Amino acid sequence: MTEHDTGPGYQPFRYHELTKHSPVSVRSGSHRIDWSDQPEPFKSYPDLSPIPLPDRSRDTGFPAMRAASQQLGEPRDLDLPELARLLVLSAGVRRVRSNPGGKPVYLRTYACAGALYPIEVYVACAGMEGLEAGLYHYSPLDDALRLLRPGDPRPYLLRAGGERPSPGRAPVTVILTGIPWRTNWKYRARGYRHLYWDSGMILANLLALSASGGHSSEVVLGFVDHELDTLVGIDGRSEMSICMVPIGYGEDGTSRIVAAASPASPIDHPTAKLSSRQREYDEVVEAHRQTGLRSPAEARFWQQAPYPNDAPVPPNVALTGIEKVIRRRGSKREFTHEPVLREELEGIIAHSTYELNCDWGRRLTQVALIANAVEGLKPGAYAAGWDLEQIASGNLRQKARFLCLEQDLGGDAAATLFLLSNLQDAASTLGPRSYRAAQLNAGIVAGRMYLCAYACGLGATGLTFYDDEVRRFFQTEAEPMLVVALGH
Ligand SMILES: Cc1cc2nc3c(=O)[nH]c(=O)nc-3n(C[C@H](O)[C@H](O)[C@H](O)COP(=O)(O)O)c2cc1C
Repeated sequence: MTEHDTGPGYQPFRYHELTKHSPVSVRSGSHRIDWSDQPEPFKSYPDLSPIPLPDRSRDTGFPAMRAASQQLGEPRDLDLPELARLLVLSAGVRRVRSNPGGKPVYLRTYACAGALYPIEVYVACAGMEGLEAGLYHYSPLDDALRLLRPGDPRPYLLRAGGERPSPGRAPVTVILTGIPWRTNWKYRARGYRHLYWDSGMILANLLALSASGGHSSEVVLGFVDHELDTLVGIDGRSEMSICMVPIGYGEDGTSRIVAAASPASPIDHPTAKLSSRQREYDEVVEAHRQTGLRSPAEARFWQQAPYPNDAPVPPNVALTGIEKVIRRRGSKREFTHEPVLREELEGIIAHSTYELNCDWGRRLTQVALIANAVEGLKPGAYAAGWDLEQIASGNLRQKARFLCLEQDLGGDAAATLFLLSNLQDAASTLGPRSYRAAQLNAGIVAGRMYLCAYACGLGATGLTFYDDEVRRFFQTEAEPMLVVALGH
């Protein structure tokens, strides 16, 4: 690949700079949340009949830690009950929390910044017993599919994806999209980052569940934006395609699908209104446009082979099954100061950052941390490579709290993990799209950290942060993408 020009006016960096949090920006913010116009958290198609998902296939009980790092369990048929297991546990409703004076909150199986749930899930299916070939929307509200477009979608996926083989072979490809207004409503332009973080949370579940059922899966970011948007029936602005996840492409070897000669024709099913005063943020539209791919040739150019996994398979420090872990997960609202074990911490980091099947071909997430209460590890700050390398010592609880936007959870955690990405490096080899990949990669690693923490019987929460303060503290050129706090 050629070197890309990433000079000072480089747009994704401009977006990133514009949406940084700092003690000054947070204190001078004048944004008022309009509670009377909170966007609907579910997309609904009033004219389409629901196709209820059947009871999901039985639990695999496959260890969550191994599943998180995409080690494969016993192969299963990818039939409709198995598809139900993948969808409902990846992105379904976990419980409903009443909200005095407001709408109830439908908490999902994945963590989501502010519980605003801006991500929609679609399924491209080549046809299976009980489900004709077509493109479907998955609604977590009623655990049902709705048929948006009949017929085998794979020729269009192959074309939009620059003929990467997996979406052409897979019996099922899950497509995630983001509705920026659902998160911009509260977080304004910074909410564009959330689309990738929250997608990463779903992906951590989906990739792990796929692995537990013995199905191959990978994250594909190399697609022609407007072609995938058209296939799904969205406009690319008020709802935008995030990624594709072909599942089970290694299983039946069907490789005779030929890419479509032209993009799919538009579809336009009426959907219920999101809110009364929906607005668009120019910074978001621009960041999305600048990181877009415009032709199958550009999508082809983006794609990389999976990166070589030169690390030894991490030891499994917990055996709890993936389904149990997902059902048990929930973001901790408080941490005791009880220590976690060093091997737990190392296991969580190793499994979360181990192999990721994706089309960007390199590790984009590094981990640095502040250890407050880790048995076997002196309190201090560390960079996590093969080993934990100490870079500062002493009690850093106040510092950790400050870096996490002055939230107590950041200081009370046993360990506060900062997920960093060198955006400049990534952009110089992969180009503007790498900005999406860096955010998404961090989201997946954070989602895996949740799974691994709960597998160890610990708790976790995602946290937001003061961007440049984190960078300065760790004396790094890499930018913080996300924070995960761990503890009891
Ligand atoms: C990317 C991300 C960022 C988050 N940031 C914060 C945060 O700054 N402060 C906080 O208290 N919780 C944060 N959370 C936790 C969410 O509020 C929580 O996931 C959401 O309320 C749903 O609840 P649940 O995780 O228990 O299902 C974050 C979660 C994610 C995924």
